[in-house]
Amino acid sequence: MNRRLILAMPLAALAQEKVNTAMIGVGNRGSFLMESVLRQPTSRLAMICDLKPDRLDKAATVASASNPTTTTEWKRVIDRKDIDAVFIATPPHLHAEMAIAALKAGKHVYCEKPIATTPADLKALVEAAKSSNKVFVAGQQLRSMSQLKAAVELIHDGILGDVLMVKAQRHATADLDYNGSSGDWYYNYAKSGGYLVEQSVHNLDACNWVINQRPARASGFGGIQLHKNEPKGRNIYDHQVLNYEYPNGVKMSFTQMVFHPRGMPAGGQYINVYGSKGSAELMSTYMMYTADGQPPKMISPKAVENPDAHTQAFYDAILKGGKNPANITIGATAAATAILGNEVCRQGKVLRWEDLSFGI
Ligand SMILES: NC(=O)c1ccc[n+]([C@@H]2O[C@H](COP(=O)([O-])OP(=O)(O)OC[C@H]3O[C@@H](n4cnc5c(N)ncnc54)[C@H](O)[C@@H]3O)[C@@H](O)[C@H]2O)c1
Repeated sequence: MNRRLILAMPLAALAQEKVNTAMIGVGNRGSFLMESVLRQPTSRLAMICDLKPDRLDKAATVASASNPTTTTEWKRVIDRKDIDAVFIATPPHLHAEMAIAALKAGKHVYCEKPIATTPADLKALVEAAKSSNKVFVAGQQLRSMSQLKAAVELIHDGILGDVLMVKAQRHATADLDYNGSSGDWYYNYAKSGGYLVEQSVHNLDACNWVINQRPARASGFGGIQLHKNEPKGRNIYDHQVLNYEYPNGVKMSFTQMVFHPRGMPAGGQYINVYGSKGSAELMSTYMMYTADGQPPKMISPKAVENPDAHTQAFYDAILKGGKNPANITIGATAAATAILGNEVCRQGKVLRWEDLSFGI
């Protein structure tokens, strides 16, 4: 910025140039986010919090140029009046309590997905975010990916005609590493919400986005077929088969599993969107096909994605009133779609969205 302009600016405006930021949880995802925060010219990393001293030390070393203070007690972050914004990347069951406390203390919040794991927590967080005038961004970063965004916009503009049905999946070749960074909470349903809530929440969000609605009801089955009591005490499914129906009649079929052999066709993640004028796959090929057998065409070319796009959008929303790519409604709808998918399997019956009282 021009030196004369800086001198002419009131001190308050200068102070606002950088958003004082804290990280709560600097494990796998939190470390990645912290590096993104450190790359933002509009942020100053002021505090890092993690329960595990080794992770705290490692993060403090990476961020040493910013000289952040460190703590193992997340409430000290909330209590610090000079912290403007908080990134929450702790295990999922802790998100709602931490995010609500941060919002109530007047802080902007970037909360990793799933933003909550139970209907009650979700409802409380929705209320807190809606009654706050601070920015709340959910870590549903697919919303900031330019290739997917361009494809969804084309579909909303009618390139496929009316969307009739969606078939999507998230198939992995194996469980997450039992001794890996999230191994101490991921296999505990009460802490993670299981594969559907913790991971497929991204895929379900993309399905809601392209359909442009939230589900009206769902049915499905889930179980543990291969990894029984692996790791010991595991109570999350290793596969699920789900159906969602949307208010406009669109049906969405979703499967997930952790035993799709590498190299076997139709593995990985895809979203097939079937429309009245054509159908397209999102997430992997972005190719569109028509019933009359015309050669397939790519609807959205591969883009060089900016790994900081979602973080930048958070700061832009705080400082410039920029568009929030994943606001509370988007984050809560994604989490609620996943929670609904779990509940239909656990309760063994069809459930309507309203049956679970999500507050959205
Ligand atoms: N958006 C994405 O693509 C993406 C990718 C990976 C993970 N995630 C999400 O990020 C979150 C964290 O996942 P992860 O893989 O980094 O897990 P992780 O276990 O590697 O990290 C979580 C960290 O939180 C810390 N922690 C736990 N309880 C705490 C407390 N009370 N106070 C302070 N710190 C505490 C742990 O010590 C750990 O370092 C999860 O919600 C996960 O779903 C998102």
